[in-house]
Amino acid sequence: MTLNLAPIPELFVSYESAQKLKIEAADLHSHDLTPRQICDLELLMNGGFSPLKGFLSQADYESVVDKMRLADGTLWPMPIALDVTDAEAEKITLGQDIALRDQEGVILATMTVTDKWVPNKAHEAAQVFGADDQTHPAVNYLHNTAGSVYLGGAVTGIQQPVHYDFRGRRDTPNELRAFFRKLGWRKVVAFQTRNPLHRAHQELTFRAAKEAQANLLIHPVVGMTKPGDIDHFTRVRCYEAVLDQYPSSTTSMSLLNLAMRMAGPREAVWHGLIRKNHGCSHFIVGRDHAGPGKNAAGEDFYGPYDAQDLFREHQEEMGIEMVDFKHMVYVQDRAQYEPADEITDQDKVTILNISGTELRRRLSEGLEIPEWFSFPAVVEELRKTRPPRAEQGFTVFFTGFSGSGKSTIANALMVKLMEMGGRPVTLLDGDIVRKNLSSELGFSKEHRDLNIRRIGYVASEITKNGGIAICAPIAPYATTRRAVREDVEQFGAFIEIHVATSIEECERRDRKGLYKLARDGKIKEFTGISDPYDVPDSPELRLETESVEVDNCAHQVILKLESMGLIKA
Ligand code: PPS
Repeated sequence: MTLNLAPIPELFVSYESAQKLKIEAADLHSHDLTPRQICDLELLMNGGFSPLKGFLSQADYESVVDKMRLADGTLWPMPIALDVTDAEAEKITLGQDIALRDQEGVILATMTVTDKWVPNKAHEAAQVFGADDQTHPAVNYLHNTAGSVYLGGAVTGIQQPVHYDFRGRRDTPNELRAFFRKLGWRKVVAFQTRNPLHRAHQELTFRAAKEAQANLLIHPVVGMTKPGDIDHFTRVRCYEAVLDQYPSSTTSMSLLNLAMRMAGPREAVWHGLIRKNHGCSHFIVGRDHAGPGKNAAGEDFYGPYDAQDLFREHQEEMGIEMVDFKHMVYVQDRAQYEPADEITDQDKVTILNISGTELRRRLSEGLEIPEWFSFPAVVEELRKTRPPRAEQGFTVFFTGFSGSGKSTIANALMVKLMEMGGRPVTLLDGDIVRKNLSSELGFSKEHRDLNIRRIGYVASEITKNGGIAICAPIAPYATTRRAVREDVEQFGAFIEIHVATSIEECERRDRKGLYKLARDGKIKEFTGISDPYDVPDSPELRLETESVEVDNCAHQVILKLESMGLIKA
């Protein structure tokens, strides 16, 4: 197989043209790229998404969604369009060139907009991700983060997005191809991962390389992975620690700035095409490749080997061969890892396995992680980023009507936590936030969302730095609360507490006299009276406050925190 011999086409113009284009592009309409779009653009420009020449046209998008192929029939499983808001779309006419800027305002590329359309997101979700179910992270992103209008058109690359971290470990497809050429590697098997490598992965990758008689490329994703995953800084330190275990003459590691979609089977095919573009001849697909976890009904989105089946169906056309692997488990009697389905003496041997959930539990409770499972250096890195839960930061998020008792309970909780000591506690009460962070905001949906997102941002920073954030806004919208949860859960636990005092009781108490004013029409958009409140479906705790004392409510929260391991009994 000679596929990595020739360079792959990129979308960049020459250095001189780029300098000129950059100056001209300063006058164009600017689109500020989202983090996901920056990842997509990088791989478009450097040939990682070859044969795409830009963001998909409407015809290509519709064909990709329905048939997994571009309009000309070329296999391409993932819709890559440039999503923008309604307001931005209105300013852009077809045929116009726009400048694509990173988050610091650097112009990375220009794009000639040839297509603009409103996608049917529910249809996209069902076709690409298998269900219009927002427990799927990419479906949630599609409905709640992505803009409502898509733009398509060819991209002219000016420069690569700037990365300050692990620069020496990042390679474009052509850099990898050149590296393989230089070393004379014709057969290369790529291993995709978004998790730290443990001994099972090492065994799996060794076996794959042996089976394919190929060199090995460890090719972890450092762009965007599943919300809640271990951050890429920690992971890369873990990979570096494991790299010593591999023969350096046959194994290499490179970081891939891909924004994953967790689309299981379609994602596997996409990953394969991307690796082919990076000069690889083989690709490892294991159990539940790029699986997003459970759906709203508590079932897996995809079957454990669906990704392998879809890959197998298309591999010839893709020009990259699959090395499929079943689940690897540790056979204690033989002190080695073996594929679960190849163990013929199952009832005579002891099979050990630690699932991802069990590993997280052991880390969060500071329990032993055995050497047969992972490498001491990896465990040490993980322990640094994931200290036991009782030492981690977390956020308690109260939600409920005005006058439901949120602030009073939050205050009592704060004092109890301060009495225990150990971590700094910050109270972000509705009124305090409105005074100090959101004084210019009113109570429209847009302003409430902005207010809650600000609270979420501060809470996530506090959580990240090991503190306790107690938030007590009304936070009437479920989607906004979910967004805050996602912000926080990157760094620690998020405990949503519904203070379930009925609107009748809040109005009867009317501590601030606001309900009367709302009834008289003197305050508009008043939650529960003239504005909506989405009751939380499954909060971590629901507090009934009528006929229960404040102290007891705060105590219930303490018990909940204790049961979650966030405070020591
Ligand atoms: S939100 O929706 O979460 O942004 O609201 P929040 O910032 O928590 O509101 C804080 C307090 O503002 C008072 N207030 C109103 N609440 C609801 N609707 C309207 N229109 C309104 N106007 C003023 C109200 O006292 C909130 O009080 P508490 O008791 O702190 O919830």
